[in-house]
Amino acid sequence: MKYLIYGTVTSTNDAAKEICGKYRRAAVLARAQTNGRGRCGRSFYSPEGSGLYMSYILDMSPEDALKIPLTPLCAVAVCRALEAFGVRGVGIKWVNDVYLRGKKVCGILVESCGDKVICGIGVNLTTESFPEGLGNAGSVSLAIPPKKLAKRIVRNIDRALKRRDFKEEYISRSILSGRTIEFSENGVMKKGAVCGFDGDLRLLVCTDGETRALSSGEIHITDIE
Ligand code: BTN
Repeated sequence: MKYLIYGTVTSTNDAAKEICGKYRRAAVLARAQTNGRGRCGRSFYSPEGSGLYMSYILDMSPEDALKIPLTPLCAVAVCRALEAFGVRGVGIKWVNDVYLRGKKVCGILVESCGDKVICGIGVNLTTESFPEGLGNAGSVSLAIPPKKLAKRIVRNIDRALKRRDFKEEYISRSILSGRTIEFSENGVMKKGAVCGFDGDLRLLVCTDGETRALSSGEIHITDIE
């Protein structure tokens, strides 16, 4: 397993895409990103030296990755790693955000690269202020050495892939239980009550007397956001 440490990159996912054919397994880490990317066209604020910005190149084909909920698996791996460094109270907002004290402290962006899969993970460690419009962003507020945290996350991802023991924990860490959320269906905004998860960790939402299973997309918690 190779750890490649860069200075400033556009995005560690982009840097990983340039080298994913070269290594069976590797992790790309950077001190800063100028174009950190997230799901649904979001950007990920990545200032110099105050976060972990990493992309783990997995030895797994995109086809095999579709058979497991990889993004939730990574979210559980991040929670376990942060707890190993003493951070208490981390939760998960479906599907890919890790929250602490009501703020998003980590985002995950899984992408494919040829016959491999890249798990892009950003954790705000000591970032103190965020650009306007990122009102829900926060920091762990603990100066965990990024490479140490990266190694722990990689180990946790590998273990969870072997043991497949993350689904119950994902559900128990969800911060959405009992919440009312807003989601978009065919371009129409709908409101509903979160009523659980299915076996593939799709979010079950009760709305208009029916249960919808959401597999992707952006949701908003309307009763706290
Ligand atoms: C999201 O908020 O939707 C996901 C954010 C993912 C950010 C990480 S930081 C490391 C890697 N490189 C990127 O450009 N994105 C991911």
